Amino acid sequence: MAEKSTVIGKEITRIDGILKVTGGAPYGVEYALENMAWGVGIGSTIGAGRIARIDSSEAEKMPGVLAVLHHGNTEKLFRPANSFEEMSRPGESRPPFEDDQVYYYGQFVALVVADTFERAQAAAGRVVVKYDARTPDVSTAELTPKDPPAVKNERGDVESALSSAPVKLDVTYETPVETHNPMEMHATIATWNKDKLTLYETSQGVVNHRNVAAEVLNLQRESVQVISRFIGSGFGCKLFPWPHSWMAAIASKKLARPVKVSVPRSMMFTTVGHRPFTRQRIQLGADKDGKLTAFHHEILQPTSMVDDYVENCAEATSMLYACPNVRAVQYLIHKNIGTPTPMRGPGRTPSLFAIESAMDELAVKLNIDPVEVRIRNYAEMDEGKKMPFSSKHLREAYQTGAEKFGWSQRNPKVGSMTKGKEILGLGMATCTWPATRHNAEVRVSLLADGTVRASCATQDVGTGTYTVFAEIISDRTGVPLDKIRVQLGDTAMPPGPTSGGSAATATVIPAIAQATDQAVQSLLKVAALTSGSPFEKVDPKNLKMTGGRVHKEGDSAESGTPFPDILKLRDLSGLDGQVKTEAPPEAKQFSMHSFGAHFCEVAFDPEIARLRISRWLTVIDGGRMINMKTSRNQILGAIVMGVGMAMFEETIYDHRNGKPVNNNFADYIVPVNADIPDLDCIFLDFPDNKLNEYGARGIGEIGLTGCASAVTSAVYHATGVRVRGLPVRIENLLKTA
Ligand code: MOS
Repeated sequence: MAEKSTVIGKEITRIDGILKVTGGAPYGVEYALENMAWGVGIGSTIGAGRIARIDSSEAEKMPGVLAVLHHGNTEKLFRPANSFEEMSRPGESRPPFEDDQVYYYGQFVALVVADTFERAQAAAGRVVVKYDARTPDVSTAELTPKDPPAVKNERGDVESALSSAPVKLDVTYETPVETHNPMEMHATIATWNKDKLTLYETSQGVVNHRNVAAEVLNLQRESVQVISRFIGSGFGCKLFPWPHSWMAAIASKKLARPVKVSVPRSMMFTTVGHRPFTRQRIQLGADKDGKLTAFHHEILQPTSMVDDYVENCAEATSMLYACPNVRAVQYLIHKNIGTPTPMRGPGRTPSLFAIESAMDELAVKLNIDPVEVRIRNYAEMDEGKKMPFSSKHLREAYQTGAEKFGWSQRNPKVGSMTKGKEILGLGMATCTWPATRHNAEVRVSLLADGTVRASCATQDVGTGTYTVFAEIISDRTGVPLDKIRVQLGDTAMPPGPTSGGSAATATVIPAIAQATDQAVQSLLKVAALTSGSPFEKVDPKNLKMTGGRVHKEGDSAESGTPFPDILKLRDLSGLDGQVKTEAPPEAKQFSMHSFGAHFCEVAFDPEIARLRISRWLTVIDGGRMINMKTSRNQILGAIVMGVGMAMFEETIYDHRNGKPVNNNFADYIVPVNADIPDLDCIFLDFPDNKLNEYGARGIGEIGLTGCASAVTSAVYHATGVRVRGLPVRIENLLKTA
């Protein structure tokens, strides 16, 4: 069906685009509920210790102040069931105000609620909190691994293979803490109607959020509704709910009025997760031709005092390259920081910085071309899982990229390529991300007014999910996109997946397709079985719907009857299809992954040690693209984030009190337009039909993996400086100037 489709794989503009640019799309924080009060959270100013005393008497006397909540005056909340149960995972498992303990700087210690935001904020400044403070442990200088490891992957005998390898490499890489900075910050509006709670959220997973809310607040799931219709992106920090959501809920209950709690940019650095620091030692053993014989990867990763969050860097090690002897171990170290959380491409993004940098160092050491060294170690199967790949065209990605980027013009000698007074450096890296599918349930309704409505409790985080829904329905019914209304982001709808792990598109497509087909089948039966129908007594098997019209097989669509006319025959408001789909059985037989290759050129001005990215091309083997416009958008956006990771981003903690000192956009640097050259990406069109009928995979995360090592490899090629700890700083390059 997709083959001759007029919508699938085309450049389709987001169907919600007009709403967004005209202010018609309500974001969670924007719901103006009647009688709403504002809550302002107070974050701890120590990084470790306990609350000795909270004096809110002065704040409570201030105009408009309704309540000051803290551990001394609120009922204890429950701990969520955490990962023990599917779709009930919190960001931080410790509920707010649980006790007097402080585990990290910025942990919420109180909430001031007033009738206006300004009054709540003014009063928050008058709440006196006294602490018994300890010096927090936030340093990553010394990270001592303790058994047991959080992750361990092993095959072969890595020790003996390493010791007997003719070529050896032993290098350590570091990636810093990166802070989530989506445009739309976190916020919750909570409101109760008798015993029913509604949360207006910015959430990448309303069903998960609802389930955790029920556990933390001791409610039935049916008594909680979570709404998140439009989202100003999430990148992982909105996958799981954070403490401010529960603070809004308990304040609203106490005051019997809606309460809004928003998280200011500065607190985005403490209470809604982050990508954790990693230190990764890689030992490679290879033969003289660069063929890997041993691969040892040891990862040290801090987490918070209250949660064991694993940024799984060991996963990619086992599958990216062919190698008989592999060991990847990862250890967690508890620190006085907030709980980390996924950030676009969690695990693989820091992991591929290390692995791909090491591959580049191996190529340099052996004087083999960096593309060639990867092809010599090409994994024909997933050697970790011992499974064939469902569809892998990484070789074509390397070849296409090398050709289009002009890689053959690259002179491997460091500093040998110049343009005017600038030195050019060319680097490349592999990227990869798993292709997954979860459960989804979708309802599709053919309606009497000639529109089609689809609903599902998944979300559009800004990536185009609304549009993908409409495209699939249009593809199967011929109803034009402007007659299709998609409703997402509300737990009142059939349960859908979290918008995470690059899995939502692949997950919902089969459910949309089947629900659409089911609704069409019901319509065809009505057409065949209703007296007065132009198709009375025709076997429904010989009927079909094309271009929004019902017609006999073999007849043209134009000769058919518009579907609302069929509904009218029985005075029907509409006909529904509702289908639940699960991961395909093939997921147990095949390793499913997307792959790709980044090619990056940097320009370095040695006079002033100025480094710029000057060219970029990414080639993606990511299955069939449902929408070329939003797909390209995902990859280009990910490269921008990759430039941020490579050159700018790093959260720095004050060792005295655990405060992230650069907790604002003046000091936490993200790329701006001036940092980004023209970017290009190419999609190889190999559908992965083992994943779903359309062969589509999600591509939200893959584009970021590998980016940083493409940059640092290019920097090495230009300057001879190998940056093993991100981000690349001017200080790293001054000595070459
Ligand atoms: Mo993604 S890190 O699963 O939003």
